[in-house]
Amino acid sequence: MSLILGLESSCDETAAALVRDGHEVLAERVASQAELHARFGGVIPEVASRSHLEVIFPVIQTCLDEAGVTLAEVDGVAVTNQPGLIGCLLVGLSTAKGFALALDLPLIPVNHVHAHVYGALMGGEDAGGAAGNGPTAPESAPWPLASLVVSGGHTTLYESGGPQVHRPIGRTLDDAAGEAYDKVSALLGLGYPGGPLLDKLAADGDPKAYAFPRPLPSDSLDFSFSGLKTAVLYALRGPQGRDPLPADLVPADVAASFQAAAVDVLAKRLLQAARRIQAGGLVVCGGVAANSGLRARLKLEAERAGLPLFMPPMRLATDNAVMVAGLGHHVQRAGHTADLSLDALPRGD
Ligand code: KG4
Ligand code: ZN
Repeated sequence: MSLILGLESSCDETAAALVRDGHEVLAERVASQAELHARFGGVIPEVASRSHLEVIFPVIQTCLDEAGVTLAEVDGVAVTNQPGLIGCLLVGLSTAKGFALALDLPLIPVNHVHAHVYGALMGGEDAGGAAGNGPTAPESAPWPLASLVVSGGHTTLYESGGPQVHRPIGRTLDDAAGEAYDKVSALLGLGYPGGPLLDKLAADGDPKAYAFPRPLPSDSLDFSFSGLKTAVLYALRGPQGRDPLPADLVPADVAASFQAAAVDVLAKRLLQAARRIQAGGLVVCGGVAANSGLRARLKLEAERAGLPLFMPPMRLATDNAVMVAGLGHHVQRAGHTADLSLDALPRGD
């Protein structure tokens, strides 16, 4: 049995979790900075790092209290050390090093993107249709998996051969899908983060109201979202993109039509990737994996293709430390612990 303390601070969520044996969650906490960044319409790295510093110890303490365990019972500290905003990563990493040094614990480096994929395998109450929603041990997952990591910073397809083996096979050539959601939300004056707001609004709109483009660059598994974002801009604010918003604008129709285009592209590419690598299953993870339209469409497509679909439960779609502590268990078992010279890396896939 091993109890891992996981820490996550790569972007705008400060998170800690205590997870036993890679799947049993004893406590979890996420302090979101969304409100702090809302007035800027995006994450300000300096503001984010300072906020991580302020809350990381209270977040860890709350987890320990909730789980009713002491630091003496912890067997290792797993921390996201890549990829992410460098100042943000350093807060989690320095904290983890402090614990590792003071308590003589193994320091376990975790790749944030790999952790998202692992989080999808952990299952949960409203997770994907695979394996009866329970956790799928890495030993019994149907590797290789076609994994779509889709968030505010990433839109990448991987051929996943194991918990720590992810080969990129397609990526966005410009904006990430979550970024496109956030920008369209800003265009409509809705707020930040835009994904959940647009998702909710889309439920009341007509997905056919606007024929937005569905760019799928040929001969590759790459994505492009800047054309879609620009098409929304021109549809709302004219060919120069500077006109005032039309008085009779129905924001729900824009949201539904945008979401239909984004989901279509993401789903088609994931299925195409699965066929190409002869995948044994599908994974979708990252903040946009919380999208109701994407979840519903992928469930349908997975059933049609006869493939299990692994999705994180809603609460584990966006950044969290459960996935970090979970994967950390396997990283430690594989002997991939680090010494105190471990670096934070802004890129890492
Ligand atoms: O994984 P995450 O928490 O942080 C990054 O690593 O980026 O993802 C955040 C992104 C944001 O762009 C947010 O708008 C998007 O995920 N997001 C959604 C939904 N919930 C969060 N996008 C679409 N629909 C949602 N329901
Ligand atoms: Zn993330």
